[in-house]
Amino acid sequence: MTSSAGKSPTWNCTASSTLGEVMPDTDLRAAFVEGMSRAATFVAVATTDGEGGRAGVTVSSLTSVSADGEHPSLLVCINRQSAAAAAILQNRAFCANLLAENQQELADLFAGRSTTDRAERFDRVPWVPGDLGQPLLRGATATFECRLATALLWETHHIIVGRVSAVRLSDDASALLYGQRAYRKAIHLTGDD
Ligand SMILES: Cc1cc2nc3c(=O)[nH]c(=O)nc-3n(C[C@H](O)[C@H](O)[C@H](O)COP(=O)(O)O)c2cc1C
Repeated sequence: MTSSAGKSPTWNCTASSTLGEVMPDTDLRAAFVEGMSRAATFVAVATTDGEGGRAGVTVSSLTSVSADGEHPSLLVCINRQSAAAAAILQNRAFCANLLAENQQELADLFAGRSTTDRAERFDRVPWVPGDLGQPLLRGATATFECRLATALLWETHHIIVGRVSAVRLSDDASALLYGQRAYRKAIHLTGDD
């Protein structure tokens, strides 16, 4: 590993081959984290409300599973220690709010970066309850309201699969991205429309 000035460690992956060097086992976790940081993803806030409480957490693990099942479905992976995971499992419903490019502050809020008071999060953002009573965050580029379909505890994280019952799209289609430990936005490549 080589450390450049700045917070992010960098790996020299070009020295011996185009595939880079295989990391020793002791460095596997660090290499995994660095490798995955290069997989820029969109940013969402998974929200939930009900008897298990109102909660929300910023996630980059939102993934489409299928558009063609009985209902469309998606998944999110949430740390077992997050209050939002427990609340989703109890409420058996949640909303995946895909954030717009200008919602970086909101991402920080639900990642606990600007307040540690979980209850305060929903006081600081405009939201409305959806058809299933799940919090829809205003300004999100898309919201996917879901019923809990199934969940699997895999070591540190709950893999939570939702059946989508409603999708709402805003006029602004630009989603916020996160990669290499920074918020980013997508740009068109030359010749790409
Ligand atoms: C861009 C971004 C993406 C994140 N993605 C995830 C994720 O997919 N799953 C997860 O459990 N935590 C993720 N986190 C961390 C949680 O948002 C953070 O740990 C959160 O505060 C934990 O929830 P809690 O405060 O309710 O315990 C992410 C944080 C950021 C800033």
